[in-house]
Amino acid sequence: MNSLYQQYVSEMQKIADVKYTLALLQWDQEVYMPSGSAPYRATQIATLAGILHGFSSADELGGLMKKLSDDHSLQSKESANIKESLRNYTDQKKYTTDFVIEMNKSVSAGFNAWQNAKTKNDFKLFLPHLQKLIDLKRKECDLLGYEHHPYNALLNQFEPGATTTQLDVIFEEVKEKLVPFIQLIRNKKGPDDHFLNQHFEKAKQWDFGMNILKQLNFDFTSGRQDISTHPFTTNFNAKDVRVTTRINENDFCEMLFSCIHETGHALYEQGLPAEDYGLPSGEYLSLAIHESQSRLWENNVGRSKNFWEYNFPAAQKIFPDQFKTVSMESFYNAINVVKPSFIRTSADEVTYHFHVMIRYELEKELFQGKINAAELPDAWNKKYKDYLGLEVKNDSEGVLQDVHWSHGSFGYFPTYSLGSFYAVQFYETAKKELPGLEEDIKSGNHQQLLAWLRKNIHSKGRTLNADDLCKIVTGETLKFDYFYQYIMKKYGNIYQL
Ligand code: CO
Repeated sequence: MNSLYQQYVSEMQKIADVKYTLALLQWDQEVYMPSGSAPYRATQIATLAGILHGFSSADELGGLMKKLSDDHSLQSKESANIKESLRNYTDQKKYTTDFVIEMNKSVSAGFNAWQNAKTKNDFKLFLPHLQKLIDLKRKECDLLGYEHHPYNALLNQFEPGATTTQLDVIFEEVKEKLVPFIQLIRNKKGPDDHFLNQHFEKAKQWDFGMNILKQLNFDFTSGRQDISTHPFTTNFNAKDVRVTTRINENDFCEMLFSCIHETGHALYEQGLPAEDYGLPSGEYLSLAIHESQSRLWENNVGRSKNFWEYNFPAAQKIFPDQFKTVSMESFYNAINVVKPSFIRTSADEVTYHFHVMIRYELEKELFQGKINAAELPDAWNKKYKDYLGLEVKNDSEGVLQDVHWSHGSFGYFPTYSLGSFYAVQFYETAKKELPGLEEDIKSGNHQQLLAWLRKNIHSKGRTLNADDLCKIVTGETLKFDYFYQYIMKKYGNIYQL
């Protein structure tokens, strides 16, 4: 290997060492850290973030990458890495170290204020922190630069190439096609799902979830699962991928589907090329592609009849009293009930996209200056009324429900919907290319599907963009119609439309 390229690799790995140490501190903050340590942790994170910024924007690194970008003897993966790293470097150079430290301090403080505000159901406790984060993010849009809409600068951090223009088209289609579809469903008497809300003992739920993780081939020698307020996945390298979940003793679905969802994320991280640690080719492509992996396992696999043909008998064995009179068919219908609800993370596959759209519209209005942070609760409640017909009663179940804004993550939510739409398109392709797939899932065997995802998506890392990946894997760019057809067919059967 070219010695300059070797030097670039070791610099990138040093940056990764700091980045993942930071991630470990953040994981600990959300999983185990005693709350008294919060102010110290905030400083520790901010200091490390400053060091990380220093490393990733060092002039020597830039010089090295510029030299390498003119080197035509590099292999194609090597030049893809240089191109992508140089793009990130150019963005990093736009930030001052002071800005990075201030942002990280505000995020840590914001996260703690949000937790407190959510517990006490008091938006005012979060408001000054939220305002501060929005101000900093506006500054960030200006630092990064954008075309047409400041929100594009934020979107690009999570989904390179995404724009408000594209998203407006997609969400227009969501509105136009899904609003009447939900109306059709609401006029029907839905399946009975009361048996999902009996008492399900914590320890037994945990065991059931762990068995599902094993069945889906989560590698426990390269990962672990813990409990946190808000389920998430993080990783420190491909051999250490951590998922979290939460357990609600009165709801069979909450932990279960968060386990499957986060496992989908984790399988992607565990499937990235471990030898490319620290390089774009060893990292996930974009957040929408990440989410496509979690949604594919959660919905296309985990909410399918085939999956429960295998797993429902196991659920009946662990919870005999709760499920003894329930048939597999009624269980399948129950886990797929479509019902407008307040909480995004537990929403069904159809109404879910309204939760995302509401946040997208509000974020766009915030960054356009059409509304301010103090007006968020009212604006939020109004949209829930307009789109989902729901009267939001308290902010903990409304504007305070998600952690993202406390992390300063604006522009993140749209990737959830894009991810679901990619998931369907990928899954339809997998079904065509793997004739035995449905039989496999009926027998609890997911090896073949995982191997397909590893080969077509995971192993690619970030050596191309989401649009190109989608074209290579499915033969087309992202089409909302795949999702729409899937929804019509599945729910047409369940609701006998
Ligand atoms: Co996710």
